[in-house]
Amino acid sequence: MSRDNDAPVGVFDSGVGGLSVLGEIRSLLPSESLLYVADCGHIPYGEKTPEFIRQRCVIIAEFFRTRGAKALVLACNTATVAGVADLRERYPEWPIVGMEPAVKPAAAATRTGVVGVLATTGTLQSAKFAALLDRFATDIQVVTQPCPGLVELIETGDLTSPLIRQLLHSYVEPLLEAGCDTIILGCTHYPFLKPLLREMIPASITLIDTGGAVARQLQRLLGQRDMLASGPPQPTQFWTSGDPDNFRNILPVLLEASDSVRSFAS
Ligand code: DGL
Repeated sequence: MSRDNDAPVGVFDSGVGGLSVLGEIRSLLPSESLLYVADCGHIPYGEKTPEFIRQRCVIIAEFFRTRGAKALVLACNTATVAGVADLRERYPEWPIVGMEPAVKPAAAATRTGVVGVLATTGTLQSAKFAALLDRFATDIQVVTQPCPGLVELIETGDLTSPLIRQLLHSYVEPLLEAGCDTIILGCTHYPFLKPLLREMIPASITLIDTGGAVARQLQRLLGQRDMLASGPPQPTQFWTSGDPDNFRNILPVLLEASDSVRSFAS
């Protein structure tokens, strides 16, 4: 096996949201060794300027490159719309997987022709999202709903309190009133709210997120380059620009416990 196959894959998000993607990658590609940066010191990305997020993307990408990462996954919709084009330009040879709200599969799935999108303000206001709608949403109605405040609560490990219940309800209600039968979870934090969301919406409504698709795309890109790892399962290493103790405490709630949480000081 060449050195490239054993090299790690860098995965990052503004915080814990990308753990929903990390879980999918680990199920599909258990042999890959994964490095995860949670940029909790700068959360929420959804309310930051694209330029600020682009800078964070480069800082984190450089960190992964110094650790020999063979590929990069932006496990964050907001970082992707702001930064993926710039990263691909800077590192043309590096396999980079980004993510965007699943408008195309939702357009195929809807029967009422009305699709809802829950995402951050930054994602919904971006040119990349507008282009996505132009491309795939010509025959359907798309109702968008920014969700300020949700990410901050999820970051504390709150997935069930009356406060988050009330906030989520206020964001979902307009989608139900508009007749959506398909709801896109366009932020990687939101899949952690699926159980709560299921209590609020009819069972007939389809929820779509893209963590699984991201894992499959990573598998494709590495496979095309003959760079897939094939050894025994590898533990993930974590860094956070926030408080490592907080992150260590929330990991078992969202994924699993890990002793390997370090401070990301950049
Ligand atoms: N998890 C991120 C996403 O997928 C953004 C959360 C934030 O606003 O920081 O968009």
